[in-house]
Amino acid sequence: MKIITVKGYKELSETAAQIVLQKIEQDPEAVIGLATGSTPLGLYEELAVDHQLNGTSYQKITTFNLDEYVGLPADHDHSYRYYMNENLFTHLDIPKEQTHIPRGDAEDAAAEAKNYEELIQRTGGIDLQILGIGRNGHIGFNEPGTSFSSITHLADLTSSTREANKKFFDSVEEVPELAISMGIATIMRSKEILLLITGKQKQSAFEQLTKGEVDESFPASVLRNHPHVTVIIDEDAKT
Ligand code: PGA
Repeated sequence: MKIITVKGYKELSETAAQIVLQKIEQDPEAVIGLATGSTPLGLYEELAVDHQLNGTSYQKITTFNLDEYVGLPADHDHSYRYYMNENLFTHLDIPKEQTHIPRGDAEDAAAEAKNYEELIQRTGGIDLQILGIGRNGHIGFNEPGTSFSSITHLADLTSSTREANKKFFDSVEEVPELAISMGIATIMRSKEILLLITGKQKQSAFEQLTKGEVDESFPASVLRNHPHVTVIIDEDAKT
């Protein structure tokens, strides 16, 4: 695991953007795994600005997001599809049909999860997966206890995750209890992983990631078994 320490959030976002842009330059048809939450917002802004200034083309890339809330349609302003459109896709030239996010309002959510996993594999797998980390070590919506062999599945959100995500909703009651999420094995099959960690509230997660056991009780610990992980962390998050 390569760890890059940066001063603050701006530098974290710029450094992450450089890695993503380098990947797209090397392979204009790259398959990029994307994340939501607060952490990657600065990265997405950097990519949008770069696109405007330098015209980096996204026309041939394909993206797969980690997860989506069950029950929220694409146009719901708290859905991850809406977040991605607002914060990234509408600012780039990527064709919408090359952006994939599980459909939160699919009639059969379990079938949607299965199809999503198959689509990732059919596309040739993810070249570079961007990840955030939950305070409890979750990656995607893979909460503590999720099997390391899990593939895309229906995931229950823990109350601590719903509490952390209420910042995007009016109240915690509105945060859905179920999501469709790539599994741990899905994430681990990515050829390369970029994990972003920012802020004091992630200090103990980073400590456990680097010093704790590799164990399903702390999902992100599995990343220690991956051959090509880069962690970008700011000083606030580093103990
Ligand atoms: P955050 O979420 O970026 O909003 O802190 C990270 C995560 O829960 O994976």
